[in-house]
Amino acid sequence: MTEQSAAHAAAVTDRVRLAGSAYNGDRDLVARQSLYQWQTPRHALPGIVAEKLGGVRGRVVDVGCGNGRFIQRLRADRPDLALLGLDVAPGILAGVPGPVAVADATRLPLATASVDAALALHMLYHVPDIPQAVRELSRVVARDGLVIASTNSDRDKSELADLWQRAAGDVLGTRRGPALISLGARFSLEKARAFLGAEFGRVETIELPGTITVRDPGPVIAYLASHRAWADQHDVPFDATIDRARAILDGHIARHGAFTVNSKGGILLCRR
Ligand SMILES: C[S@@+](CC[C@H](N)C(=O)[O-])C[C@H]1O[C@@H](n2cnc3c(N)ncnc32)[C@H](O)[C@@H]1O
Repeated sequence: MTEQSAAHAAAVTDRVRLAGSAYNGDRDLVARQSLYQWQTPRHALPGIVAEKLGGVRGRVVDVGCGNGRFIQRLRADRPDLALLGLDVAPGILAGVPGPVAVADATRLPLATASVDAALALHMLYHVPDIPQAVRELSRVVARDGLVIASTNSDRDKSELADLWQRAAGDVLGTRRGPALISLGARFSLEKARAFLGAEFGRVETIELPGTITVRDPGPVIAYLASHRAWADQHDVPFDATIDRARAILDGHIARHGAFTVNSKGGILLCRR
């Protein structure tokens, strides 16, 4: 690992930063979730997860539940399930319908084999010790239980990474500036199967590729700005880079009518 990527990994997993700024509320998380409104085909993850839980009865824990997008959907679709939301960031739990608790994925406050399914959705890349979190997910689910994880590919939204580097380059007066921090890289779709396979005999990956098309810079700029908790990791003035990205996007949309981004997320269904 290079010195810079080690620093980025430390920043992506830093609990003080996660609880204190990145997820002390849900503004930045909503900005990242909202971009998918413009995706074709539309892979709405809450509906997909609800469907995959179709055969599950009993207790479901959502580890790193964030602003409760999945819990809210499951409350509506599956009132028969006993749901529990856990997250390290107290601030983001404020609006999530209970029961919820502050807890770390690497030390789940649950008895062994006490839940029928566990969710770890777009969150394992924030955990310093991913193998330990996978062991905890395995420990708390029943023998025939289901774990659903989700994340993005290393190639996900590469056009936004390019836009950032172009804007950062313009700000710094170089051809290409430093990269936008990649939140998901430590547990990308390409790496996830190996982590999960250490505990689960059956890991099924469902890839969800799509195209995001925006005709207004707003959603893309909000997505880039949602990395503000890591502004100090970028080796370029953050706000100036956001402003420059907006100007580049304005020009692109004026010329082409739209800006297109290729997205590639996925979910992993894990059983013993
Ligand atoms: C990108 S958000 C995803 C939220 C939600 N699962 C979703 O997909 O909408 C990541 C969440 O994981 C939480 N998180 C990060 N590290 C964690 C840990 N070690 N244990 C539990 N939650 C954690 C963060 O506070 C944040 O709410």
